[in-house]
Amino acid sequence: MATSDERRTVANRYDSPEVWREVDTYFNDALLTEDEALKVARESSVDTTLPHAEVAPNQAAFLALLVQTAGARRVLEFGTLAGYSTIWLARAVGTSGRVVTLEKSSQNAMIARRNFERADVSDQIDLQLGTATELAEQLIANQVEPFDFVFIDADKPNNPNYLAAALKLTKPGSLIVIDNVVRNGAVINAESGDDRVEGVRTVTEDVANNPELEAVALQTVGVKGWDGVIIARRR
Ligand code: DHB
Ligand code: MG
Repeated sequence: MATSDERRTVANRYDSPEVWREVDTYFNDALLTEDEALKVARESSVDTTLPHAEVAPNQAAFLALLVQTAGARRVLEFGTLAGYSTIWLARAVGTSGRVVTLEKSSQNAMIARRNFERADVSDQIDLQLGTATELAEQLIANQVEPFDFVFIDADKPNNPNYLAAALKLTKPGSLIVIDNVVRNGAVINAESGDDRVEGVRTVTEDVANNPELEAVALQTVGVKGWDGVIIARRR
């Protein structure tokens, strides 16, 4: 029988971020195919304003699976970065679909556009450069066709503004996914003083208080550490 010390050793190994990464590698090797264009796009995040902030490969594949399951044709993304998730979303909507992605940094936008070309998805993507709140206001003013799927993955303090915009740009049945809502558990700290945590907590309350939304939060561990998403659906 294992001694309590041995049990603690075992527990420590399986609780560790190293094992989270190994498990991601195990399943990704088995289940996930990344072509060269996706691999280059993912690695090019090191040249952006937020290196390594792109979603993990299996998280991107999950978003693509949600888009396909929902039969989504029109996708809106807040925060392009190097366009790694954007490429997955564009491939998920297919050649008859469209992804509108909003990015503040011209440096990131330039990198993303090269990645879209390499991945052969430029025709499906409308990358708009500017402040996401203002760009979303323009979409609302222009009364664009509602989006079926929204991925909120930009600056976290503005999450509540992005949700408010998303609600004006979607329709009943649309899905809204919000990234990075767990933040190593910091989300439960009401006095964190971190405006990104406050952005997550406020948007969580906004989702909770909106009778038009049903939602779940899911924690994730893996190559990106410990984080999570809110997945909300408009009734
Ligand atoms: C940060 C943002 C992200 O969207 C992410 O996935 C990871 C980190 C950040 O602002 O640090
Ligand atoms: Mg993110």
